[in-house]
Amino acid sequence: MNHLKREIKEKSLKYHIITYGCQMNSHESEKIAGLLEEMGYGPADSKEDADFILFNTCCVRENAEQKTFGNVGRIKKLKLKNKDLLVAVCGCMMQQKQAAQKLLDTFPFVDIVFGTHNIHELPNMILAVKEKHERVYQAPELTELHDDVPQKRAAGPLASVNIMYGCNNFCSYCIVPYVRGRERSRNAEEIIREIAELSPHGYREVMLLGQNVNSYDGGIGFPQLLTRICEETDIPRIRFMTSHPKDLSDELISVIGRYPQICRHIHLPVQSGSSRILREMNRNYTREAYIGLVEKIRKNIPGIAITTDIIVGFPGETEADFADTLSLVREIRFDSAFTFVYSPRSGTRAAEMPDQIGEEIQSKRIIELVALQNEITEQRNREYVGKTLEVLVEGISTRDPGHMCGRTSTSKMVNFPGPPSLTGEFADIKITQGKKTTLFGEMIKEEP
Ligand code: 5AD
Ligand code: SF4
Repeated sequence: MNHLKREIKEKSLKYHIITYGCQMNSHESEKIAGLLEEMGYGPADSKEDADFILFNTCCVRENAEQKTFGNVGRIKKLKLKNKDLLVAVCGCMMQQKQAAQKLLDTFPFVDIVFGTHNIHELPNMILAVKEKHERVYQAPELTELHDDVPQKRAAGPLASVNIMYGCNNFCSYCIVPYVRGRERSRNAEEIIREIAELSPHGYREVMLLGQNVNSYDGGIGFPQLLTRICEETDIPRIRFMTSHPKDLSDELISVIGRYPQICRHIHLPVQSGSSRILREMNRNYTREAYIGLVEKIRKNIPGIAITTDIIVGFPGETEADFADTLSLVREIRFDSAFTFVYSPRSGTRAAEMPDQIGEEIQSKRIIELVALQNEITEQRNREYVGKTLEVLVEGISTRDPGHMCGRTSTSKMVNFPGPPSLTGEFADIKITQGKKTTLFGEMIKEEP
């Protein structure tokens, strides 16, 4: 391996990673980047400039899959120009045997395919391709936890930390338990050690990641883990996602209320407003229970933002079921929502259900839902006008280079005029305008 490292360094070889999907995938790409840099690779400016191109894929919905095949296909011309270029594909989609095989058959120029459980093996896979000129396909079902890999975190004050992997819930539409395996929690001491090292390195906010953080069990439960992070580290802000409504406990609500470091935001996917559909989805709560939970959270943690995920067009969803979703959205008034058209995933229970809903009805429903939620999001954003909020400045706004952007504890994006030197700092911003996705404001000058 050492001579390979030397060769990579001497030739100053560069990598480029293209990531699809959720924050879990983005964080795994940071681990892959960490491994590659440890081998001597440096980051490339673009695919054209790279000696190693990796696609980290998602398979939660069908369009993610189509996009991946299109984009991997376009790499062929780069490979024709540079025969030493290595191409790898990994992530959730490669954990599905059929999809991985189809990719290998369609694109003979792909050198390495691996899954979600063996990222740490990447250096050995590269070695096998370079030295034995073998094509590598390794996507084992499940292995021990291997998260002692280096990480190259994205620039800026935000850091992600995995607290658990996998999911046991088997919501009937969802492929995640099949591609990410059963729940495995990281040891609490290791998590705390990792977080304690963040603030000396300039990080100001940590995102704790898990498919369902509420079922974290690393010797202690999730509320205790949060308590220990608040008590034993000096990271100023803590977020987490995702919370399953079926097991968000009173204890968790009281811990969030107790510690101001824990952000005033819960992402609480509801998926549907119809109790009948929720049962078919295997979500283990009813519409009424969800509404009751939100009321309890809001009563105990004033000002907390609640966001959600909603699926429309689940098999058998009637007009009345969809009307229940709309009325729930009106009743709860989410701060924002990710909305999805149901996409059948082969191997899941819902894909086999009768009464799959046609595209026409699905698109009519999603348009109506998005319009309703946009209106609510904008109304809620307008309610912030005149208030002064603490913003963690993340960097220069992508929309306007004269503006900086950052988030409030409630996860609202705020743009305001200010110098780039504010990146990583907390700033008090007086909100002047609330638009659909963003708040606009002005910095409150500190008294000399
Ligand atoms: N079709 C549509 N949306 C889905 N999600 C998960 N699986 C599917 C599917 N098969 C959505 C859920 C989940 C989010 C991450 O993706 O709303 O909360
Ligand atoms: Fe999928 Fe349900 Fe697990 Fe979330 S909780 S990852 S939706 S199975």
